[in-house]
Amino acid sequence: MKRVAILISGGGSNMVTLVRSMTGDHPARPVLVLSNRPEARGLERASEMGVPTAVVDHRPFKGDRAAFEAALQAELVKAAPDIICLAGFMRILTGEFTSKWEGRMLNIHPSLLPKYRGLHTHQRALDAGDTEAGCTVHEVTADLDDGPILGQARVPVLSGDTPETLAARVLEQEHKLYPAVLERFARGDGTPVYLPSGDASPIKAELSEQTKNNA
Ligand code: GAR
Repeated sequence: MKRVAILISGGGSNMVTLVRSMTGDHPARPVLVLSNRPEARGLERASEMGVPTAVVDHRPFKGDRAAFEAALQAELVKAAPDIICLAGFMRILTGEFTSKWEGRMLNIHPSLLPKYRGLHTHQRALDAGDTEAGCTVHEVTADLDDGPILGQARVPVLSGDTPETLAARVLEQEHKLYPAVLERFARGDGTPVYLPSGDASPIKAELSEQTKNNA
């Protein structure tokens, strides 16, 4: 069984879908949910699901990123994860930290990378007049929102969309994409998962379809 630590900063809806996915013959199990914000709603949700939680508040480390990352690293080492999933974790990590987990750390980003690294992805997609948007799961490397792509899901941009309506449509796909990628990655398969646009079939079906396509 692969051990998975999930890093969050907020609501943790992606974390919830990842935790829920890791049952039965899934090759991984959640061992830690770690937040940099003590008030993150996701912490309660993790506890309710019986997953151990920890907090490394970034605020006391203001100006000392190395010390913050050392504290983060200490919590992670205790949990001994095989895989780390960043799931709405809103702190930038240095290359020194990411190199410690290279090839073992995943992130979900709410855009079709390489478009719109960083923040305000939905506003930027609307400003650019894009007709589609989406989300990407990728391996974390030293460069922000870069690293090998492990999966993408696309959604249409509809007329009248606001950043909020678009974010909600993308988030729905995030909840399908991230568990699908994690399961495949935990089996040692880094072949990208491309979810069909607007497909509402269950994750398992999408996975097997993907497997067929890649056979
Ligand atoms: C998600 O949309 C995720 O893609 C985004 O934050 C949201 C977290 O929601 N992540 C980033 O923007 C990372 N740069 P959640 O807490 O409900 O999973």
